[in-house]
Amino acid sequence: MTQRWTPDSWRNKPAVHMPTDYPDARELQRVEDELRAMPPLVFAGEARTLTAKLAEVEAGKAFLLQGGDCAESFKEFSTDNIRDTFRLLLQMAVVLTFAGRKPVVKVGRIAGQFAKPRSSAVETIDGVTLPSYRGDNINGSAFTAEERAPDPQRLLKAYNQSASTLNLLRAFAGGGYADLYNIHRWTQGFADHGIGAQYRELADKIAEALAFMEAVGVTPETHPDLSRVEVFTSHEALLLNVESALTRLDGGTGEWFDTSAHMLWIGERTRQLDGAHVEFMRGIRNPIGVKCGPTMEPDDLLPLIDALNPDNISGRLTLIGRFGHDKVGKRLPALMQAVKAAGKKVIWSIDPMHGNTLMATSGYKTRPFDRILGEVKGFIDVAESEGVHPGGVHLEMTGQNVTECIGGAQAVSEDDLSSRYHTHCDPRLNADQALELAFLVAERLKSGRLNQSRAA
Ligand code: PEP
Ligand code: CO
Repeated sequence: MTQRWTPDSWRNKPAVHMPTDYPDARELQRVEDELRAMPPLVFAGEARTLTAKLAEVEAGKAFLLQGGDCAESFKEFSTDNIRDTFRLLLQMAVVLTFAGRKPVVKVGRIAGQFAKPRSSAVETIDGVTLPSYRGDNINGSAFTAEERAPDPQRLLKAYNQSASTLNLLRAFAGGGYADLYNIHRWTQGFADHGIGAQYRELADKIAEALAFMEAVGVTPETHPDLSRVEVFTSHEALLLNVESALTRLDGGTGEWFDTSAHMLWIGERTRQLDGAHVEFMRGIRNPIGVKCGPTMEPDDLLPLIDALNPDNISGRLTLIGRFGHDKVGKRLPALMQAVKAAGKKVIWSIDPMHGNTLMATSGYKTRPFDRILGEVKGFIDVAESEGVHPGGVHLEMTGQNVTECIGGAQAVSEDDLSSRYHTHCDPRLNADQALELAFLVAERLKSGRLNQSRAA
């Protein structure tokens, strides 16, 4: 029989990838209590709305675009950064909507994406061993004993940064910036050639369509959705002490919601069926995701689905594949077949970032654009041959012009990596690369759709 769930029942299960070396356990406790008294960052009703939108994705009627930083940082926190990531999400969504003829559900990896699972708990440089950097809400990235010691005050700083970020996102989404009639203003920052030119051409077409619609009486006054968007937030639910401190009972329904973000996901390294992360996530009613890596077997996945979505609710569960460009074709079909045969309602999405990381000869961690694109295309190929909706993409990206992933139309080379390598963790697509990916994925989705309608 299933054990009773509470926001703290995870404490009785093995919890991996969480820091255990806080110098002062009582201070951590005090910070958790303080977080417990803080206002929610998101509301239950918003999380329910996202589940309903994701149910449309599950039904094949919409597409999920999830993206943002690998790790948000205190240093990179600025209005411009948030605006640029938001704008990039909108631009990519426009491209995907136009080609796919389906609404795009926009979910940022933002306003809470701080903590990172690390392959090793310690790092050794020149014979000195210190705790690994685990994200700005836990410790600092500089290689000194002081910075690397976990500091609970960082959790409060991250909460406050998340609140400010969300506040700005809400203003951008509803306060005019996202007005489709402003679509040309979103082209700022793009060059006049290449992807920038391709985007402007699309913006021209949309502006023409809007003018036509206005002529026949469809205006922002009659259709307010033309002048605002809904953007949701998400992050990996890694630090369960923080997640449970922000989990609240929805008075109206008696359901629990983790109010730190609209959507939360379980990482590839914390998806153990008997572990703390699965225990915590099964009890919250937010839409949730699970990363599915190259070692996952159908026998691992089906019990996880049963644990996390026992009532088979549409929109509740997103499976985020992250196999690697060379493994997606081998590993994904069996998983998709098993889930489909069992009649499980899930959204299939692809994270083409985490299975395609390599070390450049210069020592920088990077990801080749071709492999990222290759994994997305491989995902769509498999989904189409299994008769499953290729529901979404999950990306690490930034609106800034960084040089972290190699390749793309602007051909970032290995030698360029050092010029603007700013990530606090994994290499992200820059704005040009992310938009180029959106165009190429849109093309691929469009040809799939045309082929299907021809075959029908
Ligand atoms: C991530 O999304 O940042 C991450 C660590 O991914 P994964 O759990 O798939 O390795
Ligand atoms: Co990452």
